[in-house]
Amino acid sequence: MKKILVTGGTGFIGSHTVVSLIERGYHPVIIDNLDNSCRTVLDRVERICKVRPTFIEADVRDASALDAIFSEHDFECVIHFSGLKAVGESVEKPMRYYSNNVEGSIALLKAMRKHECWKLVFSSSSTVYGDPEQVPITESAKLSVTNPYGQTKLMVENILRDLSHADQRWKFTLLRYFNPVGAHESGLIGEDPNGIPNNLMPYIAQVAVGRLESLRVWGNDYDTPDGTGVRDYIHVVDLAEAHINALEHFKPSHGCRAYNIGTGEGYSVLDMVKAFEQASGQRVPYSIEARRAGDVATSYADAGLSAKEIGWAAQRGLAEIMRDQWNWQHNNPNGYTEQ
Ligand code: NAD
Ligand code: UD1
Repeated sequence: MKKILVTGGTGFIGSHTVVSLIERGYHPVIIDNLDNSCRTVLDRVERICKVRPTFIEADVRDASALDAIFSEHDFECVIHFSGLKAVGESVEKPMRYYSNNVEGSIALLKAMRKHECWKLVFSSSSTVYGDPEQVPITESAKLSVTNPYGQTKLMVENILRDLSHADQRWKFTLLRYFNPVGAHESGLIGEDPNGIPNNLMPYIAQVAVGRLESLRVWGNDYDTPDGTGVRDYIHVVDLAEAHINALEHFKPSHGCRAYNIGTGEGYSVLDMVKAFEQASGQRVPYSIEARRAGDVATSYADAGLSAKEIGWAAQRGLAEIMRDQWNWQHNNPNGYTEQ
């Protein structure tokens, strides 16, 4: 059974990918410091898969912990999710982000080189496209970022590109996720943000379940069909499966390749509210507020390259996203904290 090291494997996207890996016959080994996740995730994954994933609680910047893990296991590939992802916090505490996301990636790459593990799939983000000049966005669009979180993603992309030029044994696949949402259809794993969510989908779900009073829609004066922001929302299980496709499509002269992971469809904030109300039967009251700093009007992917080169395309649409988001939120109103 091929072993895959999954950094950040108890997090939102990591946990769904661990399930997909187990279902596809891989043996995932998770390293996570539980900064933004908890051990309950392991119980839930075990309930879904009937297999408990191997888990090591450690920081990815801990060189000796990495050395021990790579000495014990022979990995086919690394999937690198671990890192911090809150845009606002990254503006206030940039060093925390550079240290975690950039130093963490460098520590991991050093351990991989020492132990001759040369393949890595990296969690990048559509944030590297900044305010896009045109949509749908292709992988060759201009890269620009507007905050420290985005900088860390672009910096790691550049580090990986440089390494692949310097030493052809390295093979890197950068997956640029658009907006990951939804949950596993079992309702056992999903997104459990700390405090008040910044992102749209968990916010809507928490309003519907009565944890929050009302959604604030950040602006209805954008140049979009209904004036609210348009995004490409990708079901987290489709996103998880993209990682399996990525690790099964490393080419002999692979170098460093980037793929958009989105549906190619854009939906507005109000489209999302309506679709969620339909799926849940709950009302989601909202008010229109001023624009949020740093937001762009419209962002959606051209996902043609990932279909062509790694054979991946989203299978789930808005109906499945809303059904699974509601199922998760309804069954776990307080996330992984039982009350
Ligand atoms: P998450 O916070 O749920 O998961 C990240 C995991 O990494 C957490 O379990 C956390 O405890 C762990 N972690 C953080 N720092 C660590 C460290 N130094 N050592 C070991 N573990 C550490 O986030 P997610 O939504 O699952 O995102 C996974 C990756 O995808 C991140 O790199 C994120 O930047 C990227 N990404 C996420 C989104 C999104 O909207 N969720 C969009 C684009 C890209
Ligand atoms: C945000 C981040 C982006 C990150 C992505 C991860 C910002 C500026 N951008 O993207 O860097 O990669 O999350 O998924 O933080 N909205 C509301 N009310 C809310 C929340 C959101 O109206 O309470 C709107 C936003 O204005 C936007 C849309 O919903 O139009 C989606 O927002 P969000 O889920 O935060 O994602 P992004 O802004 O696309």
